[in-house]
Amino acid sequence: MIPIARPSIGPEEADAASKVILSGMLASGKEVSAFEEEFSKFSETSSGVATSNGTTALHAAQLALNIGPGDEVIVPSFTFIATATTVSMCGASPVMADIEETTYCIDPESVMEQITSKTKAIIGVHLFGQPCNIGALTDICEDHSLIFIEDCAQAHGAKYQGRSVGSFGTCGCFSFYPTKNMTCGEGGMVVTNDLGLSDRIRRLVNHGQKEKYLHTDLGYNYRLTDVAAAIGRVQLQRLAGLTFSRQENGEFYSNNIQRKGIITPHVRHDSTHVYHQYAIRVTRDAGISRDELAEYLHKKGIGTAIHYPVPVHEQPVYKGKVSGSDCPVSQRLSKEILSLPVYPSLTPDQRETICQAVNECE
Ligand SMILES: Cc1ncc(COP(=O)(O)O)c(C=O)c1O
Repeated sequence: MIPIARPSIGPEEADAASKVILSGMLASGKEVSAFEEEFSKFSETSSGVATSNGTTALHAAQLALNIGPGDEVIVPSFTFIATATTVSMCGASPVMADIEETTYCIDPESVMEQITSKTKAIIGVHLFGQPCNIGALTDICEDHSLIFIEDCAQAHGAKYQGRSVGSFGTCGCFSFYPTKNMTCGEGGMVVTNDLGLSDRIRRLVNHGQKEKYLHTDLGYNYRLTDVAAAIGRVQLQRLAGLTFSRQENGEFYSNNIQRKGIITPHVRHDSTHVYHQYAIRVTRDAGISRDELAEYLHKKGIGTAIHYPVPVHEQPVYKGKVSGSDCPVSQRLSKEILSLPVYPSLTPDQRETICQAVNECE
């Protein structure tokens, strides 16, 4: 079976983790500090705070930005649920914006329609590895004095107009979950150019502790371990090569999937796509449904996934309880979308087999 995702992790990461384990210093320490420095430099920002995962990165960042009860935060309705639930975790209200049909990312026009006097921030998600329309969103934020937060959980190393994602917003939040473009098991990071903000986040992820056993804020234990950071540092060194392989695989699919009614990902002219997912759309004109294609590929030993079968505003936790757009594009795409394996260690033969299967399925 060709799985939908496979982390590229091996002896170098094992060596790095093993060194930390044998040192006996397992908690957050020198490795975490080095990882924060290296990752923030890589993201073209001046500071990084490591966290236990991408969800805690988003939560701590919003808390540190004083997002709370009475505030509204505009999020795309087509994303992983944590983009929205972290807003709710702060006591604020997520407000749904629709997505662009071409890039699957948050639609600035839909965002504009959702702005009220309560709006405090916009979270732009760089979905599947492609930057959202950062230029339009930063303009909206400037015009309306809003905070722009980048959810970069799926877009390590992606560039918008030549600059790294995470460096445009007030902060950028990353995830290092095993299926992501780089991993440390479970982990996350907030990067920012605002040193005051990174200080507040650093306190919040460590029990609100200002000095040892002096707790000035209601904080959490959202820390990363040194074992995880050591793995992350090796992955960061390898990220350029891993990204190159994902892009090669993605370009191969885009050139070789040729079938009426199947739409391959559109890449914005001013951005790079790092293909966290390679998501095709199976439209009516394909003559088969998305689910029939997934079933056919499964029978051929090819794993696929649906990111995401239910838009955020239709999830039981939020249905009928959130305001915003009806999000017709999100609704339609959730029925058409299908992710194909695009991970770096996919072989040329496997790529070929997958394209053939998509093209021939009846
Ligand atoms: C867009 C997005 N935001 C946030 C998260 C949360 O990250 P984590 O799973 O590390 O908590 C994810 C992870 O899947 C994600 O894809």
